[in-house]
Amino acid sequence: MTSEIRQRLIVALDLADPARARTLATRLAPEVGMFKVGKQLFVNAGPDVVRMIQDLGGEVFLDLKFHDIPNTVAAAAVEAARLGVKLFNVHVSGGLEMMRQTAAAVEEVCEKEGLRRPSVLGVTVLTSLDASDLESMGVQGAVPAHVVRLAGMAQEAGLAGVVCSAREVPDIRRACGDSFLLVTPGIRPAGQQAGDQKRVMTPGDAVRAGIDCIVVGRPITGADDPAAAARSVVAEMAAVF
Ligand code: C5P
Repeated sequence: MTSEIRQRLIVALDLADPARARTLATRLAPEVGMFKVGKQLFVNAGPDVVRMIQDLGGEVFLDLKFHDIPNTVAAAAVEAARLGVKLFNVHVSGGLEMMRQTAAAVEEVCEKEGLRRPSVLGVTVLTSLDASDLESMGVQGAVPAHVVRLAGMAQEAGLAGVVCSAREVPDIRRACGDSFLLVTPGIRPAGQQAGDQKRVMTPGDAVRAGIDCIVVGRPITGADDPAAAARSVVAEMAAVF
């Protein structure tokens, strides 16, 4: 049971130094399901940091949020598949055709080269944007409705799921069904500082909302004992399951 729940915890390695990433990944690999490598670590340390995590037995969510013309994103997606990452993401606002070509290119390269197929996630509306930001871009109406619309586009294009706020999970679940992968950051264990995150949820409440995986960064990576912090997040999730 606990090992199944552990697979649902993704730790964000939001740091620049690959040596520090190695220390954290070594301590945390037995406790968590996956490590999120974002732009800061990837720009500094490159694909070697992904291989280093894999060598330690960790799975990788490559969080580079691709957003470009279909041909360019599909080509980058092929390289992400060749790197062996388990998850990576693209911006849904890149359009249906971009997402379709990406999903097709990943399927083709995995079949041809005998690779494990990564799950492609769509990024809907960044949590740093609110309704007035969307309005200034010409998008009218409430943010959650737009998020659900974008999640539906990601599903139509053949993506595996979306990254979203835990608060949007029930609506997306209703619209997109049980097998659509919902991955949610903005998680804070009860009693912890929210920091710069404004719309936070506890791990337990996120499970209640119907998430598949949560992304947790500083509450684990900034703890005195990151492994103990990870175990306590897993225990909080397990209590709800
Ligand atoms: O440290 P913290 O738990 O806030 O880290 C959350 C991680 O999830 C960070 O890497 C952040 O960039 C990412 N993220 C987020 N909100 C989104 C998408 C990604 O916090 N909407």
